[in-house]
Amino acid sequence: RVIPRARMAVRSNVITVAPILTKLQKDCATPLPVLRHVADAMAADMRDGLAVDGGSDLKMILSYVDSLPTGNETGLFYALDLGGTNFRVLRVQLGGKAERVVATEFEQVSIPQDLMFGTSEELFDFIASGLAKFAQKEGGNFHLPSGRTREIGFTFSFPVKQTSIASGILMKWTKGFAVSGTAGKDVVACLNEALERQRLDMQVSALVNDTVGTLAGARYWDDDVMVAVILGTGTNACYVECVDAIPKLQGQKSTSGRTIVNTEWGAFSNGLPLTEFDREMDAESINSGEQIFEKTISGMYLGEIVRRVLFKMAEAGALFGESVPEKLSIPFVLRTPDMSAMQQDNSRDLEAVGSILYDAAGVNSDLSARKIVIEVCDTIAKRGGRLAGAGIVGILQKMDSESSIFGKRTVVAMDGGLYEHYPQYRRYLQDAVTELLGSEISKNIVIEHSKDGSGIGAALLAATNSKYDHDL
Ligand code: GLC
Repeated sequence: RVIPRARMAVRSNVITVAPILTKLQKDCATPLPVLRHVADAMAADMRDGLAVDGGSDLKMILSYVDSLPTGNETGLFYALDLGGTNFRVLRVQLGGKAERVVATEFEQVSIPQDLMFGTSEELFDFIASGLAKFAQKEGGNFHLPSGRTREIGFTFSFPVKQTSIASGILMKWTKGFAVSGTAGKDVVACLNEALERQRLDMQVSALVNDTVGTLAGARYWDDDVMVAVILGTGTNACYVECVDAIPKLQGQKSTSGRTIVNTEWGAFSNGLPLTEFDREMDAESINSGEQIFEKTISGMYLGEIVRRVLFKMAEAGALFGESVPEKLSIPFVLRTPDMSAMQQDNSRDLEAVGSILYDAAGVNSDLSARKIVIEVCDTIAKRGGRLAGAGIVGILQKMDSESSIFGKRTVVAMDGGLYEHYPQYRRYLQDAVTELLGSEISKNIVIEHSKDGSGIGAALLAATNSKYDHDL
């Protein structure tokens, strides 16, 4: 009997790529013992990073935020947000407990690629001029008492060694940024110089990481918020720590006895299930050997890992027919939003999968190839979501060992495009948390999306740390 050519092709790509898929699934597996190890190692690395600077992969950066917003904040504040694919400016008029957010406005622009590889001046001039344009449009809903300088909460989402609430030195760039001349400098001073070049009379009152901004923004509405996690282009987490549990503070006290610690967990690397594709991606990256957790679980990288797997399947297993589509060899052509979009396709022919593959990577696919692509996406999203969940449990375990939080309602504020737009990833994350903590304890752990909380959070922290008395 003659097998029609089309069917032969269908059979052959399923069979030839099967070993690659099986190996991938094995290498990415995150059964409970692996998750447990990651959670425990995260908690142990946190402890080591709190003991001395440089004590572990986790920098455990002190944020100088010891008092969180109460709701009583009043006045006009600005926020700047630089940290991923977009740059955002925001203004908010705070009205105290009764009125809360009276008015708010924001603008967002995407960061031109060349600025990510340019000079420090170019980047900060871009920020300052965006802010200047935005500030000019301040309308009647916003009021600043006369004689005052406009104050800014500056969210700068890279590892910064804070030297006070309103100053800090960039330790290194992450997430594909490679701007020259900023590492080792005070980023607030860089911004101030650019503001002067724009002749803009504004002042930074708080410099915060996006996780810290998110925690502050979520805490404004809910007193039980204790942890904030970003799952976007990059990933990171911060949490409320007891001052007594931070040996490297060396006796410095905060009035509340607590402070927010920015873990910089993207640098975690202990015991992660990694594949040949992760290793190759890391080796070719501009920060090779660094940010391994980030490269395994965050939005900038998931699509690229999938592309690398598909490329190998195309080359070694003729997944997309005889020849390898050329575009598929280009790093980062397949993005994490494409992955998520493909996984939302419930149609019988997986037509959306077909057109996304074609548009993003120039790939022509048959149904069997599309099914394999979905399995690859799911494998990478599942590993990422579950490891993120294990990381969260690691933080909760560390907190519980200090001040018994299990049994009480504890809120983890989440933000970032990956968490927001990838339902499967979100579900895998929640599953891992429940598996690790058990259903009783996890009932009290509320993982909540706090959309764009970091902008308002930074403005609130500018208010908390304002040089003026805002109780007017
Ligand atoms: C990167 C940065 C970190 C930030 C995170 C999320 O990991 O180093 O500071 O919080 O991305 O944006």
